[in-house]
Amino acid sequence: MHAEVGAIWRERAQSELNAASGFAIVATELFELGAPSAVLELATRAVHDEVRHAELCRGLAERYLGEPVAPPVAKRVSMPRHAGADAELVKHLHVVGLCCVNETLAAGFLEACLEATDAPDVRELARQHLADEVRHARVGWAHLAWVDAATRRAIGGFVPRMLTANVARWTRRLHIMPRAGFPGLGVPARARALASLEETVREVVLPGFAAVGVPL
Ligand SMILES: [Fe+2]
Ligand SMILES: [Fe+2]
Repeated sequence: MHAEVGAIWRERAQSELNAASGFAIVATELFELGAPSAVLELATRAVHDEVRHAELCRGLAERYLGEPVAPPVAKRVSMPRHAGADAELVKHLHVVGLCCVNETLAAGFLEACLEATDAPDVRELARQHLADEVRHARVGWAHLAWVDAATRRAIGGFVPRMLTANVARWTRRLHIMPRAGFPGLGVPARARALASLEETVREVVLPGFAAVGVPL
């Protein structure tokens, strides 16, 4: 069982480093869009956070596997192309897809992980990680509050498709999790993890877009 938990954390280490790569791209695109310093500060900090998360996950993998685990592979991740959007809108969509959608779903999933954890040190880690993901999601919401109404409308036209694709990707990822999870070790049951996606979309993502004035 510990080997399986270790393998989950090893996979998470890679996905956290991939998130760092995504944030590095989004941070550059935010510079190109002329984003305000408050947003740039949050976005550049997110790159650093995700690299740290990868290292924390690798540490947990080593703990459960009981052997050294190689660091995840640093690479440039590919970003969605958003056919039909012009080059500038694609940059806005990258910010919104990564932050408002993906990071918010990540926060919902971490909440489910936190519920499934008794070990005080794993709990503390999950809590810190959750606080970071909430701040990463704020990059997107702060960005949407800054763009003009026409851009918000244009973004809104792409959000439903983006949301469907992102939820499908998370669903595929969570489907390979153990059915019963590992209660007490921070791995929620598969059904609970899957339910967290739907809950987060309904309770956070959709109200979030409504609150910043993005018509869907
Ligand atoms: Fe993270
Ligand atoms: Fe994050």
